[in-house]
Amino acid sequence: MTTTTGPTGAGTATTATTGTTGTTGRLAGTVALVTGASSGIGEATAVALAAEGAAVAIAARRKDRLDALAARIDAAGGRALVLEADVTVAEQAVVAVERTVAELGRLDTLVNNAGVMLLGPIVDAPVEEWERMVSLNLLGLLYTAHAALPHLLAAAEQGPRRVADLVNISSVAGRVARNGSGVYNLTKHGVGAFSESLRQEVTRKHVRVSLVEPGAVDTELAGHNRPEVREVMAQRFADMERLTAEDIAESIAFLVTRPRRMAVNEILIRPTEQEQ
Ligand SMILES: NC(=O)c1ccc[n+]([C@@H]2O[C@H](COP(=O)([O-])OP(=O)(O)OC[C@H]3O[C@@H](n4cnc5c(N)ncnc54)[C@H](OP(=O)(O)O)[C@@H]3O)[C@@H](O)[C@H]2O)c1
Repeated sequence: MTTTTGPTGAGTATTATTGTTGTTGRLAGTVALVTGASSGIGEATAVALAAEGAAVAIAARRKDRLDALAARIDAAGGRALVLEADVTVAEQAVVAVERTVAELGRLDTLVNNAGVMLLGPIVDAPVEEWERMVSLNLLGLLYTAHAALPHLLAAAEQGPRRVADLVNISSVAGRVARNGSGVYNLTKHGVGAFSESLRQEVTRKHVRVSLVEPGAVDTELAGHNRPEVREVMAQRFADMERLTAEDIAESIAFLVTRPRRMAVNEILIRPTEQEQ
């Protein structure tokens, strides 16, 4: 069953549900929130976590895409909560987390996935593109993590698995800087540093903080770039068999289904043919 809420959380519940979280699967009885779930890696991750029995709250700005995803999860026997939210607005990130807990009862897993990649030279770059990346890749991730952490700590203490997960989606660009991706590199390196600091802070309380660093994945991500940048990227990846969103989702599902004693801190996944 699907529940829908508007961007500020004051929105309408169009199809309220009284169901429970999944009863089978390794995440049975748990609740996950996935940001950027309307396409690509986030969408595939929501499907993968629902298949493991988690009730999934799916957040993004494109409500029509979230509604379609929720219907797909429902049809497969899962449970989804649609959250129309722009996580660059602190209040909306907070409401997304609070609605998850209010509607689904708890929060065991946060997948901080929403991101944007706007490439090109630093010299003469449109500063607005930098602002979009910093707002979403850093501030959106921080707002959501901040709002979720008290609930993750509670889940780790009282939840069915007595462990909780915060998964931050970085990139190969968070490990290796390249000419032409300076500010995207900045944001993803920042995600890595923040994740490691937070990991040390909360790991003794059994909140596992994991960093996922994909290489080239076939999603909508590159499509937000200016045409001249898209052309350069198309040439770079022209002959490469890229990863699928499902490849990354499978890795995220692996992370969050490990036993309580085991924390996979970091996963770097490149297409086999990607050298750098
Ligand atoms: N594709 C790759 O090659 C690759 C490689 C390494 C890392 N990554 C990372 O993987 C993550 C997911 O990217 P993707 O490849 O799956 O790209 P994608 O298909 O473009 O997905 C991006 C998601 O972020 C959401 N989003 C954008 N702005 C938002 C906002 N203000 N508030 C809430 N949600 C917002 C989008 O939904 P709405 O537009 O509906 O809001 C969409 O669901 C990103 O962090 C990206 O940096 C991707």
